[in-house]
Amino acid sequence: MVPTTSDESSAPYGTGPQPASGRVSAGRPPARVRIHHLAAAKERGEHFAMLTAYDQYAAQIFDEAGIEVLLVGDSAANNVFGYETSLPVTVDDLLPLCRAVARSARRALVVADLPFGSYETSPAQGVESGVRFLKEGLAHAVKMEGGAFYADTVRAMVQAGIPVMAHIGFTPQSEHALGGYRVQGRGDDAARLIEDAKALEAAGAFCILMEMVPAETAAAVEAAVSVPTIGIGAGASTTGQVLVWQDMAGLRGGEGTRIAKFVKQYADLRGTLLDAARRYGDDVRSGAFPGPEHSF
Ligand code: KIV
Repeated sequence: MVPTTSDESSAPYGTGPQPASGRVSAGRPPARVRIHHLAAAKERGEHFAMLTAYDQYAAQIFDEAGIEVLLVGDSAANNVFGYETSLPVTVDDLLPLCRAVARSARRALVVADLPFGSYETSPAQGVESGVRFLKEGLAHAVKMEGGAFYADTVRAMVQAGIPVMAHIGFTPQSEHALGGYRVQGRGDDAARLIEDAKALEAAGAFCILMEMVPAETAAAVEAAVSVPTIGIGAGASTTGQVLVWQDMAGLRGGEGTRIAKFVKQYADLRGTLLDAARRYGDDVRSGAFPGPEHSF
């Protein structure tokens, strides 16, 4: 699923409409992925991919690879800032990362995560935080954790012009309340997730993300709503899939690291970097680097 062509409503920033030939003309940036493209993917029975990104190079590479959605996740807490949970990061922490990603992605839809403490107290607080991410972070949409309880907040944000992706199932910001990393929506609890998804869709969410939900429950949610769903540890029935990029590319690892069952590693970046850094260190210590070709 891609916006291979661009019409008025999907034209990329500053370039105007592109040809309807199915190709992007040379010299022009490709069409920006918009929320309606994600909806169209569901209608056509297609899938799309989302990855987290927190900086310029990751954003550029994933964008060039055709990843449709980039999430500046609050998982930056664990993957950038070195915290154990996502709870400590703030809007002010995430805004510069979001700007870097948004400035670097020419095509992907950039979604910013509302961190813990930035929307819980009132719909007005959600609107305020969402506005900051669109205005100061240059994001195109925000994601927020929580079920039907937050429907009023989602509604207020959508009314303010902020596209909202809702995140249900296991919600890491509630890790302490949920008693740790636990699969949600098993057995009778599936009905709760379906109700959450319906309430969030009715409130205007353009997409429902489900984390650590049995495949069967996720399939029922995907069938119960007309907006696309995205899964992480939610089986194969969702319209989209998301992974944290350091998990996907094998950057996270080392002693004692637990890799979740739902992660598929497509590279061993940790091994590659470890090897490069070791060889660089050895060369410096032995005097092999820099050579004459590196000197002025
Ligand atoms: O912050 C994040 O990376 C997320 C994904 C796990 C969906 O919310």
